Amino acid sequence: MTGFTINGKAVKLDVEDNTPLLWVIRDEIGLTGTKFGCGIGMCGACTVHVGGRATRSCITPVSAVAGADVTTIEGLDPASRHPVQKAWRALQVPQCGYCQSGQIMQAAAMLKDFPTPSDADIDAVMTGNLCRCMTYVRIRAAVRQAAAEMAGGPAIEEKVGV
Ligand code: FES
Ligand code: FES
Repeated sequence: MTGFTINGKAVKLDVEDNTPLLWVIRDEIGLTGTKFGCGIGMCGACTVHVGGRATRSCITPVSAVAGADVTTIEGLDPASRHPVQKAWRALQVPQCGYCQSGQIMQAAAMLKDFPTPSDADIDAVMTGNLCRCMTYVRIRAAVRQAAAEMAGGPAIEEKVGV
């Protein structure tokens, strides 16, 4: 039995201690925004926040998050209007979309450590999040746009109807 908080809601689950957090999130709790990519911590598709830090949920046993605060893409912002999400939409970052919740969660965590990231900072932190659709150039631009809004710059304008 493991208890933790997910997206602000306390849960207690009767699962084996070594069950990957990813499967608990998807199969037990039913939040499917977090994706399975490689299962070995190498692609970033499964990234969530644990205590505010970007964490690969596929290699995190559920017992490791006992008592912790877990946030998934569904809980990043109640209205899906975190600056990173707004920038992602404004710049139409996603292609197939499969990697994108992990990219967004990684980027949102990064901006706590690097509020005004350089391209080198972005590349260094985001390098573990793979995208087979090669959206890297737009990811970099969107991170910079989100950082600008979070630093008090102009609000991100989203295109209507896209
Ligand atoms: S599915 Fe977790 S890092 Fe690839
Ligand atoms: S948008 Fe397709 S894998 Fe990244």
